[in-house]
Amino acid sequence: MIATVRKARRLEGEVTLPGDKSISHRALILGSIADGESRFRGLSSGADVRSTADCMRALGVKITDSSVRGVGMHGLHHPADPLECGNSGTTMRLLAGLLSAQRFSTELRGDDSLTRRPMDRVVTPLREMGADARWPPLVVGGQTPLHGIEYKMPIASAQVKSALLLAGLFAEGSTAVIEPVATRNHSELMLSAMGADISVEGRRVAIRQASRLAPLDLEIPGDVSAASFWLVASGLVAGSHLRIRNVGTNPTRIAFIELLRACGIGIAATGGRTAGGEPVGDLEVVAAADLRPVSVNGGMAAEMIDELPLLAVAASQFPGTSRIAGAAELRLKESDRIAAMADALTAMGAEITALDDGWVINGPRHLEGARVLSYGDHRVAMTLAVAGLLANGATEIEDAECVEISYPGFFEQLESLC
Ligand code: S3P
Repeated sequence: MIATVRKARRLEGEVTLPGDKSISHRALILGSIADGESRFRGLSSGADVRSTADCMRALGVKITDSSVRGVGMHGLHHPADPLECGNSGTTMRLLAGLLSAQRFSTELRGDDSLTRRPMDRVVTPLREMGADARWPPLVVGGQTPLHGIEYKMPIASAQVKSALLLAGLFAEGSTAVIEPVATRNHSELMLSAMGADISVEGRRVAIRQASRLAPLDLEIPGDVSAASFWLVASGLVAGSHLRIRNVGTNPTRIAFIELLRACGIGIAATGGRTAGGEPVGDLEVVAAADLRPVSVNGGMAAEMIDELPLLAVAASQFPGTSRIAGAAELRLKESDRIAAMADALTAMGAEITALDDGWVINGPRHLEGARVLSYGDHRVAMTLAVAGLLANGATEIEDAECVEISYPGFFEQLESLC
């Protein structure tokens, strides 16, 4: 599908967000190995989360749109066929951790994009724990019991951390993961709520072997990474005013919001509360008046890794030189997001240079509508839609149906706000 997006005169109204993707994956996976039924409100209906649900079903778990009937920690069944993870790195990496600790062996497959993504980052530590784990293709499990390790992660990755915590639930003794930068902590919060023996001291997370997990009753907050598209769009289109209710505001996820504020975009948070152990609030954003360039590097890049393509669009509207570095991981996402954004924004008239690990962007530049490629990457497609709202004329985004991966109804939402 080619999506056509035209310059917005202003954005106004109220946004409905999909349920948080990261929390939804974890709720399905952890609910599956709990004792008894877990109930969820607001689970993401995106294709990635559906991949996780289908994998858990293939492992013998009964799942509806709002509940999971947990089979206990030792109740998963050997799947008849390889598990299909689709486009979802979170599905593949988290399940690699869980399934490496099972008595049976499982092959995990993905689409062309996922097949190209690195899995040695989970295989290496899982093997250290005594697991049979191989890649490519990714095959894990059949060799138990695992034993706990102390693992200093070479890269910042919540997926790898979560995979090791899942394996650690089954491993003898204690499994500790030391992160280079604190990444999203949804697994830790959920495991703690389920009664697991998990402790966090700074960037060291340790979990002990568990015999049972209590089921969950969760209200899943709106996805703050999905909210970010609207924060940037309404922050940069003059005269805009948006309200976004029920946004997850977990401190490990809001570095991008803080950065936008520092750049001059007015974002007010109200109605702070807690839902399912996660902080939630309402956001209100008004178009910015006085914008400043950004400088992002190292740890900061890891804290807002999913939002960096969007920051590249925003930086094209900031005066002066913005430098976004320390983000080489972007080349290993659903597409090479550094190349994808440099190519598309160049075609739209931005002054952007790709670095190995980010971009240098000179602004502000008037963007012009162009035909651009999403590479089937949901975040690239939605980011280019935001660029399209800022650009003169029409922007045509190829393979735009991929927004279904994390944000079903994204383009309908866009229409309703413009
Ligand atoms: C995620 C972690 C991040 C992020 C992805 C979701 C998660 O990936 O980019 O969209 O739910 O744990 P990495 O662990 O590769 O950084």
